[in-house]
Amino acid sequence: MTELAIIGGTGLTSLSGLEIVRREVAYTPYGEPSGFLTHGRLAGREVVFLPRHGYAYTIPPHMVNYRANIWALKSIGIRRVVAIAAVGGIRDSMQPGWIAFPDQIIDYTYGRAHSYFELNSKSVAHVDFTYPYDNSLREQLIAAAKSAKLQFMAQATYGATQGPRLETAAEIIRMERDGCDLVGMTGMPEAALAREQDVAYACCAVITNRAAGKSTAAIHDEIEIYLKRGMDQVRKLLLAFLEDN
Ligand code: HPA
Repeated sequence: MTELAIIGGTGLTSLSGLEIVRREVAYTPYGEPSGFLTHGRLAGREVVFLPRHGYAYTIPPHMVNYRANIWALKSIGIRRVVAIAAVGGIRDSMQPGWIAFPDQIIDYTYGRAHSYFELNSKSVAHVDFTYPYDNSLREQLIAAAKSAKLQFMAQATYGATQGPRLETAAEIIRMERDGCDLVGMTGMPEAALAREQDVAYACCAVITNRAAGKSTAAIHDEIEIYLKRGMDQVRKLLLAFLEDN
């Protein structure tokens, strides 16, 4: 049975090279996921693919039904999720075009359905989120990035903002002071929900631009250049990862 899923982000609404086996419409107590689940084969391995923003890229970061997405994957037996996300680089070392494998998160999002525990839950559990990403999955991704000879950062703190607007320069200065290396809009509550569902979760963050106020170049110009380049790197990364894991 397929136990590995890839959640695609901005720039990755389909997985090139994926041999599609079937499409599954999933129903969850939390409503509709971002789209059907695509079952397929990549590098000879069975995987399930789900684009977070929908196949037509119509769901903004604050409207993604994160609970339905993770629930749908868990309900079909997924044990590991590799999440792909476009991010802005805050620290100088986080260069556009590189991939980062964050090991920490600071959550600035609000108003998102961020937990499976509600008033009618049978019992409440406070999941341990000290280390928000699954370390062995992270290590496997880092090993794949090495073997594919990609430019990557093996550690970073991901600051999750609400979006869909980009940040102000002052917000980025504050985030840097807080210890954030990267900024993105989808990292939370996705990671925490995966933890609540006991699904191993790691993030490949594709740095598409320098964060607001960090470059004289226009953010959208940078994103246009580096998003495509970054996603080409992600495809190489996934092939290397699937060959070994
Ligand atoms: N900020 C927030 N999210 C992003 C950015 C950014 O600069 N770039 C890509 N996703």
